[in-house]
Amino acid sequence: MSKKIVVVGSCMIDFVSYAPRLPEAGETIHGHKFVTNFGGKGANQCVAAAKLGGDVALVARVGDDVWGPKYINNLKNEQIDTQNVRITENSSSGIAQIIVADSGINQIVIVAGANLSLSPKDVLDSQPLISLAKVLVLQLETPVETAIEALKLCKGISILNGAPALAQYNLELLKLPSIFCVNESEASVFTGLPVNNVCEAEIAAKLLISKGCQSVLITVGAEGAVYLSNDPSKKLLHVDSPKVKSIDTTGAGDAFIGALAFCLANYDHISMENAIKAACIVAADSVTRLGTQISFPGPEILQNVL
Ligand code: RIB
Ligand code: NA
Repeated sequence: MSKKIVVVGSCMIDFVSYAPRLPEAGETIHGHKFVTNFGGKGANQCVAAAKLGGDVALVARVGDDVWGPKYINNLKNEQIDTQNVRITENSSSGIAQIIVADSGINQIVIVAGANLSLSPKDVLDSQPLISLAKVLVLQLETPVETAIEALKLCKGISILNGAPALAQYNLELLKLPSIFCVNESEASVFTGLPVNNVCEAEIAAKLLISKGCQSVLITVGAEGAVYLSNDPSKKLLHVDSPKVKSIDTTGAGDAFIGALAFCLANYDHISMENAIKAACIVAADSVTRLGTQISFPGPEILQNVL
C-alpha cells in the first residue's frame, strides 16, 4: 500500500535526565527528574507528521530486547504503517542518553544498536513504498549507504536531515536530496564554518549550494530558519519562528521536519515559505512541553495557518 510520506530512519529509546544545567566534563551534578520516552530522529519525524494527520510509513529497525516490540506498538498507536519496521536478532534497540537543562537546552549521546543494521537491502525490500512516496524523509542515525540507496529510489520530494552531522561525507549526500536540512551546529560541521546566527547560516547555505545541494534549509533555533535553493531566480528566505517560552528543545528539529514533510505531501501548491512557516509553528509549539514525540502537537496547531 502506498503512503504519502515515508521515513527511512532511526528509533531510539530516550533516557532523559532533567537537571539545572548541563554538567562540565568530569563533573557529577544532581538532576531533578528522569523519564523514558520513545525517540530517535526518524521515528520522531514520522510521529510529528502522523500527529498532524499525515499518511506515514516508517522503514526502520529495532532490537530483540524488551524495547523493540514496545516501540513498534508505540508507532502503531500513532497510526504509523510499521510493516517495514523489522526486529534485528541479537541486537539491542537504539538508545539515547539525554540531559535537558532548565534553560531548555540539551545534550545527547546515542548508541545506535539495531539502527546500524538498517541496510540498503531493507530499502530495496521497501522499494514500492519508497518510489511511490510523495515525500521521503531521512536522517543519519542509520547507515549513510542506506540513506543514499533510498534517495536513489525516490521519485518525489526527498528531505535529508543531516543529523548527526558528518565532517567527512560522500557528496551524494548533498546532491541527491531535494532539501538538505540541518541545524546550526550541524551546518557548521558540514561546512567547516561558524554557524551561530542567521547571517552565518546564510553564508553556510550558500556554501552548501555551491557544493551541490539542490536546496538547503538551516534551522536557527528561536530565530526560525533560512532557506536557499539552487534556482538563481529564487531569493534566499529567512522565515521567523513564533516566540515562545522554551522548556525542552529536544526533538524540535524533528517536529520541524515532520511538519515540513506533512505540508509538502498534503498541499500541492504550498510555497516553500509557507511550508517553512508552518514547520516553525509546530517546532516552536513542541518546545513548550517536555519530551519529543509526546510533546508534538495535533492538526489544530495548523488550523488557521494552511
Ligand atoms: O532529535 C532528538 C532525538 O535525537 C532524540 O529523540 C534522541 O533519540 C536522538 O536521536
Ligand atoms: Na518538547
